[in-house]
Amino acid sequence: MKQCGTALEKLVKIGIALSSVRDLNKLLDIIVTQARELANCDAGSLYIKEGDSLKFVVSQNDTLAKKLGESQQAEPFKPFNIPISNKSLSGYVANNGIIVNIPDAYRIPQGAEYHFDKSFDQRSGYRTCSMIQLPMKDNEGGIIGVLQLINAMDPAGQVIPFGRGDEELLLSMASQAAVAIKNAKLNDDIREAHLDTIFRLGIAAEYRDKETGNHIRRMSHYSAIIAEKMGMSPDKVELIRLSSPMHDIGKVGIPDGILLKPGRLTPDERVIMESHTTIGAGILKDSNIPLLQLSLKIALSHHEKWDGTGYPDKVNGEDIPIEGRIVALADVFDALSNKRVYKAAMTIEETMGIIKDGSGTHFDPVVVSAFEKGMDGVMEIYQKYKEI
Ligand code: C2E
Ligand code: SIN
Ligand code: SIN
Ligand code: FE
Ligand code: FE
Repeated sequence: MKQCGTALEKLVKIGIALSSVRDLNKLLDIIVTQARELANCDAGSLYIKEGDSLKFVVSQNDTLAKKLGESQQAEPFKPFNIPISNKSLSGYVANNGIIVNIPDAYRIPQGAEYHFDKSFDQRSGYRTCSMIQLPMKDNEGGIIGVLQLINAMDPAGQVIPFGRGDEELLLSMASQAAVAIKNAKLNDDIREAHLDTIFRLGIAAEYRDKETGNHIRRMSHYSAIIAEKMGMSPDKVELIRLSSPMHDIGKVGIPDGILLKPGRLTPDERVIMESHTTIGAGILKDSNIPLLQLSLKIALSHHEKWDGTGYPDKVNGEDIPIEGRIVALADVFDALSNKRVYKAAMTIEETMGIIKDGSGTHFDPVVVSAFEKGMDGVMEIYQKYKEI
């Protein structure tokens, strides 16, 4: 009874731990680690169902990890897909939704449909002995994947078969893991849809004066390069990469006659054009999503200038949000080095001449020098997303 109580407690703890992990890859890793602890075994892997195949996504093996640690030649793990068929063990488990528990993988009962693939052992020198494979069923009974545990050990470290008594416990754990994976995938999908929408909104803003979203792509990467060269954290760099595409979203509110005018704007037209900053802020206001809050800051401040002669608020110096100062440079660099309805493209040399001239007047000198440090990356993006 005591044993059972601790196991159930462990299971509850695992459930709570799994439901709090949002990152899918991290989650998959934790599932295998927890399952191995629960079953006290040497190795474990995870297969995720993807259409008609199983994707081998996690592989943990204490014995091989120790060996590799000593020889310092860790072979990088590569995910691969295998078709779901009854011939492979994991395919059989996924197809039939049942547990396979075998004391010795090299002595599979006569007449079994599946067979054990020895190629991994042959390559690595490992000896797979006891093995249990569990279907991971979500709350609706759908198979999400297969959990594979290898070489259970007794307290003395001797390999033993997986106990029949452990099956139910491990199956419960596998189901909890399946639900957690399903939720994490949903999160991933929502996040992707969210980013895609944001990116498309940015394109919508530029759609009328450009054929492609390449301006958005380039300036968003330029902004990220500057942020990185300024020493910002990877998270912050990504936040800037993803929030900068909406800097000109307010252009959706500018009439065609002005936005698409082939020649120079009159002072009155110029006033209307400049309102794209405040229109953008209006579109983005009152959001509680940090990414959109930063997009608003950028939309509002990307035409402010270091010396206070920009618009709409004539803010100067460090009172301009740093993200706005970064995007200001990325935006102008891209505007100058490409063709616009109202102007021809300049060369990179001419463009850099204007940028450097503007250091300390239009642009924050620190931002300019970060941009110069990132010039290799900038040129890569410039070439990769060149207008044809
Ligand atoms: P944009 O085309 O994306 O340009 C962004 C910024 O790049 C401009 O902000 C300006 O600071 C810089 N820039 C662009 N072309 C030149 C140039 O030939 N020389 C220099 N020194 N800087 C340049 P700005 O001026 O506030 O303009 C904001 C937006 O207003 C522009 O975005 C564009 O959509 C529109 N716009 C500006 N001037 C004209 C114009 O003469 N005709 C038309 N049709 N649109 C204009
Ligand atoms: C995408 O481009 O599809 C994702 C959004 C982004 O990278 O800005
Ligand atoms: C894009 O290039 O898809 C937009 C910028 C980004 O990758 O975040
Ligand atoms: Fe703008
Ligand atoms: Fe722009």
